[in-house]
Amino acid sequence: MSSEINLLSPYKLGSYDLPNRLIMAPLTRNRAGEGNVPGALNATYYEQRASAGLIISEATQVSPQGMGYPSTPGIHSPEQVEGWKLVTRAVHDRGGRIFLQLWHVGRISHPSLQPNGELPVAPSAIAPAGNASTYEGEKPFVTPRALETEEIPGIVEDYRRAAENALAAGFDGVEIHSANGYLLDQFLQDSTNQRTDRYGGSIENRARFLLEVTEAVVGVWGGDRVGIRLSPNGVFNDMSDSNPEALFTYVINELNRFNLVYLHLIEPRWDGSGNMNGSRDLGSQYFRSIFKNTIISAGGHDRQSGDEVLAKGYADLVAYGRLFISNPDLPKRFAANAELNLYDRSTFYGGSEHGYTDYPSLELQTA
Ligand SMILES: Cc1cc2nc3c(=O)[nH]c(=O)nc-3n(C[C@H](O)[C@H](O)[C@H](O)COP(=O)(O)O)c2cc1C
Repeated sequence: MSSEINLLSPYKLGSYDLPNRLIMAPLTRNRAGEGNVPGALNATYYEQRASAGLIISEATQVSPQGMGYPSTPGIHSPEQVEGWKLVTRAVHDRGGRIFLQLWHVGRISHPSLQPNGELPVAPSAIAPAGNASTYEGEKPFVTPRALETEEIPGIVEDYRRAAENALAAGFDGVEIHSANGYLLDQFLQDSTNQRTDRYGGSIENRARFLLEVTEAVVGVWGGDRVGIRLSPNGVFNDMSDSNPEALFTYVINELNRFNLVYLHLIEPRWDGSGNMNGSRDLGSQYFRSIFKNTIISAGGHDRQSGDEVLAKGYADLVAYGRLFISNPDLPKRFAANAELNLYDRSTFYGGSEHGYTDYPSLELQTA
């Protein structure tokens, strides 16, 4: 047997013993119930995937204002906390571990999804290109309202309260979603942040909001149970920055202060728009020497590329998104060199059991 590190080797993540190095990537599935409350169907879906080394939940809004898509779950009401308890219990009963992904969409929303039909908020009043997903179908994005400087502590407080709620709901940790063009990413990158106050302009100023949020969340959980997700190469949601290398190098250096348990990086070849992107190179290989703790590599991995990124030492763990949608027992399939179920894109976002909890396990298929 080879002693080489691979996807099926165990790993110690902070205080948690992971039986393998496959991480279930955060996946929005738009199947929360009334009031953005998770329910029994969601518990079944996560429970089926409990053999992952770690599950990262779908993005979950920290406040009603943080919502940007139909039927996504929240973590700001008592009912949502109770709903999430069904999920965390089900995963724990199967011996799994689950972190909650904390989310505020910023400008990637629509008045029809906002409290009192208000405008979505953002660092600056710049509309993204493209369409919002609403309960009435796709609608062009509107120009968001720029947040007042005085409003920012309130949003930091929303994150802190959401982190407390996640703790009450029985999660094993939280992941701060600072990727894919949502609010925290909108503050970081200069195409979306043209503020002139202490949250805009220099890289230091643009990173301030993320670092304040991180401090608040770490205050609740401790750094060893908080991870963060970044997409330095992402163009999804109409993102760009004039100097992503300097920006993300600064951000990751600053994040080291909090001793976060992991940095979850979306790799350069996955730009989030569905295309493989070879033009930028800010991934795990690049940031390995800068970040002090565990690195999770995500984006377009198959088994071979996952084993490779581990063997080369660029990352410690590998996240799988679409493969975990269609293969609830992905670690077992890799261990058995079994065939993989194909995923059906038409059931990714919204619907019910179909394309959600009805992908068969290997056991069912071979029975
Ligand atoms: C249906 C779907 C939903 C997603 N939802 C989220 C999400 O809630 N949060 C997030 O950070 N990324 C989300 N992503 C991105 C994935 O976490 C992952 O980075 C991406 O799918 C690339 O990995 P893969 O090639 O293994 O699927 C989503 C991707 C898909 C396909």
